Amino acid sequence: MSEALTRRGVLAAAGVAAGAVGAAPAGAAPSAVARDEAYWAKVAAQFDAPRDFVQLENGNWGMAARPVMAAYEQHLDMVNRRTSFYSRRQFGGDLAKVRARVAAMLGVEADEIAFTRGATEALQALIGGYNRLRAGDAVLFADLDYDSMQSAMGWLKARRGVDVVRIALPEPASHQGLIDAYEAALKADPRVRLILLTQVSHRTGLVLPVKEIAAMARARGVDAVVDAAHAWGQMDFRLGDLGLDFVGLNGHKWIGAPLGVGVMYIRRGRVGDIDPFMGSEALGADDVSARVHSGTTNMAAFLAVPDALDFREAIGGPAVEARLRALRARWVEPALALGRYEILTPADPRLSCGITAFRRKGRVSDADNQALARELFDRFGVFTVHRAGLASGACVRVTPAIFTSADDVDRLAAALKAL
Ligand SMILES: Cc1ncc(COP(=O)(O)O)c(C=O)c1O
Repeated sequence: MSEALTRRGVLAAAGVAAGAVGAAPAGAAPSAVARDEAYWAKVAAQFDAPRDFVQLENGNWGMAARPVMAAYEQHLDMVNRRTSFYSRRQFGGDLAKVRARVAAMLGVEADEIAFTRGATEALQALIGGYNRLRAGDAVLFADLDYDSMQSAMGWLKARRGVDVVRIALPEPASHQGLIDAYEAALKADPRVRLILLTQVSHRTGLVLPVKEIAAMARARGVDAVVDAAHAWGQMDFRLGDLGLDFVGLNGHKWIGAPLGVGVMYIRRGRVGDIDPFMGSEALGADDVSARVHSGTTNMAAFLAVPDALDFREAIGGPAVEARLRALRARWVEPALALGRYEILTPADPRLSCGITAFRRKGRVSDADNQALARELFDRFGVFTVHRAGLASGACVRVTPAIFTSADDVDRLAAALKAL
């Protein structure tokens, strides 16, 4: 980083040490840390979370912690004061360091990733740029995939002359059942050459076994574009271990970076299968950065990524994941015991993490679930969001964050009992 911008300097100037939250209790297993309310109260104290309602809609985007915001504000101020001298002379070098740090965390090589303004930009560039499709081929997505990625896949009909196949994922889902559903769809339509997989569904929180499904597809000569918008940071995994080829990720959901940070990943050796973005060949045939072009971006947001990673690493990825799972279990178990709610997200820990969706049994309409989310807020001060677009009907999604307390989810559980 440039002199004025070493992370230590910024954090020290902001009065923030990387250990602002304190390390998680030494030697304790993540599952024990997950239930240590005193520790999570210290974490929560580092966020300016709303106090006038219970915020259980942290899926839209994720609040950055106060120390990260303090560092971000300093980056913003520096970029603005140094203006084009900074962008022309120093930003490239600083961004290369941020890229190396992110790649190391993901367990991939720095030249396999490029920054984007979010998962949308990364995934649109991957889907739009994928150049192995021929007229008469088909592409496939599922009901749980994100709407704008579904439309990007649909757009390939006009762009590449392919047919578009849509499947509904099985409900209730099982690990093998999900793999089998994709395999059956590929067997049923051998024209399919590209599939979209959403690692963690924004509708229900369902976690897809993307490693297994992508491997199965590859064995059949089918590529997968993976939407990891909700996976990176919610779950503790190394992307490089999953054997995926084309992935879009978000830094402003679960990583806690400021808004405007995404990552595009293309596995080494596959970059030639994505066209240079709108003719930016000049950047180099083998360069992942030539596969997306954002123009002038919010440099400070990218400079704050290491600050967000420091904050997260002080807590620890396994502890974050375990905490989100514990918060989920704390309201799901009593809700199930009431017998009148359907929980759409499977209990199998391979298929769920923090996000969970539910509905009143049999009440699948949009209007029912909008009303349910409204009632939770109006009567109990619990903020959630209704989600539609599932083949089985609409639902209400509950998304905790690392600043969510046990009391917060108990308020949801009590509301579900009272309703
Ligand atoms: C599954 C999924 N994919 C992609 C996106 C797009 O992310 P962004 O709007 O930050 O680009 C989202 C955002 O909510 C999402 O939930």
